[in-house]
Amino acid sequence: MIVEIGKDIAKARALLERGLVVAIPTETVYGLAANAIDEDAVIRIFEIKRRPRFDPLIVHGASREQLSNYVAAFPEWAVTLADRFWPGPLTLVLPKRETIPDIVTSGLDSVAIRIPNHEMTLDLLSQLDFPLAAPSANPFGYVSPTSAHHVFDQLGGEIPYILDGGECAVGVESTIVTEQEGELVVLRLGGVAIEEIESLVGPVRLQIQASSNPLAPGSLQSHYAPRTPLTLGPIDVSQYDLERIGVITFHTQIAGVPARHQIVLSPEGDLRTAAKHLFGGIRYLDSLGLPLILAEELPEIGLGRAINDRLRRAAASIVGKPV
Ligand code: TXA
Ligand code: MG
Repeated sequence: MIVEIGKDIAKARALLERGLVVAIPTETVYGLAANAIDEDAVIRIFEIKRRPRFDPLIVHGASREQLSNYVAAFPEWAVTLADRFWPGPLTLVLPKRETIPDIVTSGLDSVAIRIPNHEMTLDLLSQLDFPLAAPSANPFGYVSPTSAHHVFDQLGGEIPYILDGGECAVGVESTIVTEQEGELVVLRLGGVAIEEIESLVGPVRLQIQASSNPLAPGSLQSHYAPRTPLTLGPIDVSQYDLERIGVITFHTQIAGVPARHQIVLSPEGDLRTAAKHLFGGIRYLDSLGLPLILAEELPEIGLGRAINDRLRRAAASIVGKPV
């Protein structure tokens, strides 16, 4: 298949209406999108991504009214969070209705929904008469894409169109929140900081799962990872050949390591900027083919928590699931 990269919303719409899979930009990462209520279209997503069928997808819509057609209830906590953060990097997992095929939710009785904050994609979604199921547009197990080029590099041969909405403004995936037995639970750290959520709805429990499938907890070895081994911790380069390591730091370069082997996530020390540069930085260093990448942990606050979570998953031999 010959892939085209462009900004033609009408073209993306026409392909999606035919049941095909199209890559779309969001503010978090690029998504691999298809008609969420067309089972065959959704199956194509799983095939292209080589994603196990037991890992459910997020349903993206243009408005809360539209998404309300697919959930059995929209409780008060969810309304509060949606009012504040939609469109934006927040996903709500709510009881599902029959209107969403089981393939989307891997047979769970809940569905994940979100309104992404990207002008082009909001325009596209508002022109469609169905919502879009979309996982991150990377092959299962690799780092999520934050530009049209990242998608092209890995899935270019398998989809007809990549809607190019530029670099993703947030750069890490959405924060996922649900309710379990009356308690609010965060299932994935992401673009909305936990502190912001707690300031609105009170304390939440973190349940950053190894697997979303209760039947297979922890059963997936994470390859949410560059091909290059990555270690996370305080950076001490004294034992390495400085020409042969890649380095990821928050705001300061490491003396002696060539600048082209270093990613400084935010020279100003801003966590939002750091999140935006994280995945592109990992991809870049991975492309150099060095034997090792050393990464520094960031402050465990705000978006720093989501960044550290992704770095931990990228670090070699961690057991967990790709996000
Ligand atoms: O920022 C994002 O959320 C991006 C963009 C494209 O919107 N999407 C994304 O999708 O990261 P994906 O498929 O890579 O991650 C979705 C996560 C998975 O970990 C999945 O297990 C979880 O959402 N999920 C989906 N439905 C769920 C459900 N009903 N219950 C629990 N977890 C669910
Ligand atoms: Mg993903």
